[in-house]
Amino acid sequence: MSGLIEVPDDWRALSARIDAEGGLAVLLGASDSGKTTLACWLVRTLTAAGRRVALVDGDIGQSTVGPPATAGLAFAVPAQIEPVFAPIALRFVGAVSPAGQMLPLAAGLKRLAERASAMGAEVLLVDTTGFILGPSARRLKFHKIDLLAPHHLIALQRDDELEPILRLFEGRKGMVISRLPVSPHVIPRSFQVRRSYRAQRFVEYFRESSVVGISLHGVGVQGSWIYGGKPLDPAGLRGLSEELGAQVVWGERSQDEAFLLVQGAPSLHGLPLAKSRLGVSDVRVTATHEIRGLLLGLADADGELLALGLLQDLDLTSGRVLCLSPCAEPHRVGIVHFGSIRLDPSGEELGDATNQSVEIHM
Ligand SMILES: Nc1ncnc2c1ncn2[C@@H]1O[C@H](COP(=O)(O)OP(=O)(O)OP(=O)(O)O)[C@@H](O)[C@H]1O
Ligand SMILES: [Mg+2]
Repeated sequence: MSGLIEVPDDWRALSARIDAEGGLAVLLGASDSGKTTLACWLVRTLTAAGRRVALVDGDIGQSTVGPPATAGLAFAVPAQIEPVFAPIALRFVGAVSPAGQMLPLAAGLKRLAERASAMGAEVLLVDTTGFILGPSARRLKFHKIDLLAPHHLIALQRDDELEPILRLFEGRKGMVISRLPVSPHVIPRSFQVRRSYRAQRFVEYFRESSVVGISLHGVGVQGSWIYGGKPLDPAGLRGLSEELGAQVVWGERSQDEAFLLVQGAPSLHGLPLAKSRLGVSDVRVTATHEIRGLLLGLADADGELLALGLLQDLDLTSGRVLCLSPCAEPHRVGIVHFGSIRLDPSGEELGDATNQSVEIHM
């Protein structure tokens, strides 16, 4: 791969500086700005120079380390030239773009960076998504960079598109900002090409899967309303089932909201009755068929990802979830994270389950 890329002088100067100073470097740039190419070139060059180099992949869409929807940590080995690095640790993010999952992304990157330095990384390169425009992107980048506190901030820009983010860090002690132009050799990728790259990575990931049962007893459930409220009793569920014309299999109340899991299609006409029965102002209904294929992160009790799963069935009364997963150690699962995308077994994205978790607002 190195033979195919054009390496400008400013890349060599940057590499010499990082080699001399070490530390954490965050790469910033729009989509198709050459971030991953530069990150991988730096990994190879600095590893060849004798540095212990780690790569944290924060690009949850066009992932280099681990499957999409995860952030990954890998260490370079000197002879390794292939662009896909074997992950040492993964954190679940749950979506293939950052907008709805900014907290898991920022926190996950921080945890992976800590892991890398505990493992003796002298240089740590953090690759990021091309999500740079607009107030949400600026907020995410600010907090991510603030949390990681990089020594080097590497900005690949065509024009001045990163300046709104960079100005937030001007004058910050201990941070060196390097502005580099986007290479004219960058080959842009279409939405379709990006999507099929993700599908291919998901298919590879789930190839050796089987149906795995996970007990939710003593397990933390993240990214969903599940087990966050007070369960409704069976008589209440029966009454709600009649009002909504669909079987309510589980329900919880939390402050002024209620959350219901239903089988079949509930009738909207019954909602006002359900609200007054429950004495809440908002009822959120999740239909079981709408969450089939939802991406799950099966993590250990420290939040380190053991495996991804695709939700097949959810029984909240007995506290059991069935998912399609290559997970070899279901007994080690300490946290089940609910993601916000659904996939079919061929890796095709079936769209966002909702904006952040499994609930469907009605
Ligand atoms: N300096 C370069 N010389 C030759 N080809 C390059 C160079 N930089 C990038 N490319 C090519 O351009 C394409 C896009 O680059 P890359 O994947 O690094 O961009 P990116 O900013 O990481 O994109 P994304 O936002 O999708 O993650 C790749 O095919 C890569 O090989
Ligand atoms: Mg990239």
